[in-house]
Amino acid sequence: MTALDQPDLLSEDAVGDPYPLLAALREQDPVHWSERYRSWFVTRFDDVDACLRDERFSSDRIAPYRRARLDRAGTDPGVRAAFGVLEDWMVFKDPPDHTRLRKLLSRAFTPRAVERIRPRIGEIADELLDVVAGTGRADLVGDYAYPLTASVIAEMLGVPREDRHRFKGWSDRITGLVFGGLADSDRHTDGAGGMAELTEYLSGLVDAHERAPADDLLSALISARDAGDSLSHDEVIATGVLLLFAGHETTTNLIGNGLLALLRHPDQRARLAADPPLIGGAVDELLRYDGPAKTIARLMAADVELRGRTLRRGERVFLCASAANRDPEVFAAPDELDITRADRRSLGFGVGLHYCLGAPLARLEAAVAIPRALDRLPGLRTTGEPLRWHPVLLSRGMLRFPVAFDC
Ligand code: HEM
Repeated sequence: MTALDQPDLLSEDAVGDPYPLLAALREQDPVHWSERYRSWFVTRFDDVDACLRDERFSSDRIAPYRRARLDRAGTDPGVRAAFGVLEDWMVFKDPPDHTRLRKLLSRAFTPRAVERIRPRIGEIADELLDVVAGTGRADLVGDYAYPLTASVIAEMLGVPREDRHRFKGWSDRITGLVFGGLADSDRHTDGAGGMAELTEYLSGLVDAHERAPADDLLSALISARDAGDSLSHDEVIATGVLLLFAGHETTTNLIGNGLLALLRHPDQRARLAADPPLIGGAVDELLRYDGPAKTIARLMAADVELRGRTLRRGERVFLCASAANRDPEVFAAPDELDITRADRRSLGFGVGLHYCLGAPLARLEAAVAIPRALDRLPGLRTTGEPLRWHPVLLSRGMLRFPVAFDC
């Protein structure tokens, strides 16, 4: 039996290093039906790019799930409520609902809001590095990337500093809802608990911001207007949860995976150290080489022919950004890390209507955080301990990233 008879992106090997399996799929079966996941896997750059721009590949996948599975007696009301919040996320909507929410969020999440946080990113990074600098060992995910990105988005939203530590617990639990399988009911119950606590917390914060607006993202969301339209109270809360979640899970993984790639490629690390302005291109290359968005899910809204296969209405499709980003038809020597690569396009932030709204913020955070850790932790190196990765289809990131350095 060859690996392609029953390829499993969640096998231990593929979770640790998905690229050999993704390359085999891309070469041998680029539009692959997986019996195991009852889903399609699309792996070539041109196909993934085209599908992401094609509205027949629908993002509206929470509402159909709720209608089919949750709108019946006996469903845990907490789970139903949690999926209700996800249903208000623009990332799970098609036009015209998506267009409306995206316009309103764009009014609040402006380049100015990102620019305002810029100096704080370096300060927060330094505070976190101060804590570990004298110890010689750290977990760059848990001690650095995660608290950094969580603090940045919480500060932008206007969450009081003393409450920020609570977000990690909530966010960890919600991960099971967003990145886990839709049929995983234990994770759903736990995720729903996290969602209930977080939405209750945010609801109080939204009330306080309605009474006393501040110069932050939550106030901007409350007052965002487009042609007389505005976000409802529940939509402000759901969008707050989306930003907190989208704003740091993924960016944590870009910083973690990016630092790992540089530690594994000392020549590229030395090149960056010798020429710090290369960091902008380096971040794009790290996103391409081992980015956080392993696959992007869609639900077929119509029958579509692709490379001789028929993707039928109602079927699920995983558009494999990580495979597309290493397609040799598009990138020369795609498995090599080259921070000076001229071709900087990748599908790491998606493409089309749902192109990542937080891309400028994510790029900025990585461009500050990655060099700062390399500068401030002399002799930074991996410890040789086996790395453990999140066992999920949609995202790629380490559970912990143990490192050692001189002190
Ligand atoms: C390296 C970090 C990040 C990566 C790799 C990433 C990746 C993505 C991808 C692939 C999508 C498209 C999803 C789809 O087509 O279904 C997306 C959408 C989105 N991202 Fe990001 N993201 C990152 C950081 C952020 C940050 C920092 C924020 C905000 C604070 C953010 C907010 C959003 C939002 C709101 C959407 C939905 C856009 C829409 O549906 O129109 N992301 N992101």
